[in-house]
Amino acid sequence: MSEIRKLYEANGQGHVFEFYDALTDEEKTSLEDQASAIDLDEIAALTATLIQNSGYETSEFLETVEPADYVPLEKNEGVDPARWVKAQTKGEEALRAGRVAAFTVAGGQGTRLGFNGPKGTFGVSPILKKSLFQIFAEKILASSRIFGRPIPWFIMTSQSNHDDTINFFEENHYFGLSLDQVKFFSQGVMPAVNGEGKILLAGKNQIALSPDGHGGSLRALVRSGATRQMEAAGIDIISYFQVDNPLVRCIDPAFIGFHLEGNSELSSKMVTKAYASEKVGVFCQSGNKTLVVEYSDLPNELAEATDANGKLLYRSGSIAIHLFNRDFVDRLGSGTDKSAQLPFHLAHKKVPFVDSNGKKKTPEAPNAYKFEMFVFDALPFANNPVIIETAREDDFSPVKNAEGIDSAQSSRDDQLRQFARWAASAGIKVETNESGLPSTAFEISPLFGDTAGRFASSWGALENKPELTEGLVLV
Ligand code: UTP
Repeated sequence: MSEIRKLYEANGQGHVFEFYDALTDEEKTSLEDQASAIDLDEIAALTATLIQNSGYETSEFLETVEPADYVPLEKNEGVDPARWVKAQTKGEEALRAGRVAAFTVAGGQGTRLGFNGPKGTFGVSPILKKSLFQIFAEKILASSRIFGRPIPWFIMTSQSNHDDTINFFEENHYFGLSLDQVKFFSQGVMPAVNGEGKILLAGKNQIALSPDGHGGSLRALVRSGATRQMEAAGIDIISYFQVDNPLVRCIDPAFIGFHLEGNSELSSKMVTKAYASEKVGVFCQSGNKTLVVEYSDLPNELAEATDANGKLLYRSGSIAIHLFNRDFVDRLGSGTDKSAQLPFHLAHKKVPFVDSNGKKKTPEAPNAYKFEMFVFDALPFANNPVIIETAREDDFSPVKNAEGIDSAQSSRDDQLRQFARWAASAGIKVETNESGLPSTAFEISPLFGDTAGRFASSWGALENKPELTEGLVLV
């Protein structure tokens, strides 16, 4: 019996090898490889506490919790504009010195969108239907040109979309980026277990595995050697964003400047929540720790509380845009500091499995637990975390669902509204409805302008200015 099989037997997970003897050599190796990648002690510890309690409803938490501090936008609280200018300058210096890498987490399964393929390959721009990956690539290329050096871009995939993601970039010639500027690595996986903590099989030689959550990016950055590559290239700041948000400023100098000025290990952007029950996590403070409380964990009395000005007290919505110090990622992701580990969240899900007779079963009710780490759980471990406010319309419009809120349609409209604002601020006459949506659909490439200011200067430099007609693309 192989060592790995013995280990599984000893840990009460021997059933994983139930069909082993009838497998081909290739299938045996594949099953052993999957089994070896799983930390059985970790699974045992996690299943011992199945259905973890968030702890946010305890009276101790409620007594100590406060809204987290943040740097407000000038337009909201009249903060000294010089602070933003100073931060912008500092961030630009860091970019010119080559200290920053872009980092996209693209390992999710995208079940809600229901698109067949890596989410980053999904077409979202209004006219050309450029993919999410192309939009980010062009933003990174634009920043690389502005700051005079190629900004490296790390992309985390999952086992199931890794090859398709790389093929997509190859077919599209890396969208103008150089080949060595883009680096891919795959995130870790976790097995699904049943209510008794037994690992499920998805096939006779296949463990039911799924990605370990966006929080898995910290250990994947370390395991894959990405942080060592960054160190060798002189990069100490990682600009983190998710694959589903075409509006994100992949590289934002002012954000980087605030991060540096605050000597922060992990910085975050917030948007003011649109309404009390909006489904976004909220930045809070408990004792000397900053944390994100998920919307489902935030008691109603807190979600609805208002301050003296009638504004929501807990208004700082988390939009999954962060800056990580590379050293901090190494500290958390290497797992050497046992006191700084991201917790696993449990999700009760329907997971197809093979029963002990080798029959495939598709459950109609949740039958299994999946384990995921969330990246914002790193916040309480960070020294001097900084949170800055950003304008939602300039940074956040995710594509999560097939229709309705946070869908391709809502995101397309938000892109159009941004283009219309930029055009109007450059003096172009644009007709819009009361929500700011232009009556003429047009598109601005990030390479033409990735901010209102840069759009205005490219527009100003055009000798023959085109009419703003339906389908116009400014590249
Ligand atoms: P979501 O929480 O929206 O999950 O991920 P998802 O898997 O993309 O979509 P659903 O819930 O199945 O519909 C937010 C971001 O985190 C990444 C996603 O790719 C997306 O950029 N992510 C999520 C990972 O990289 N790995 C994961 O294990 C989970």
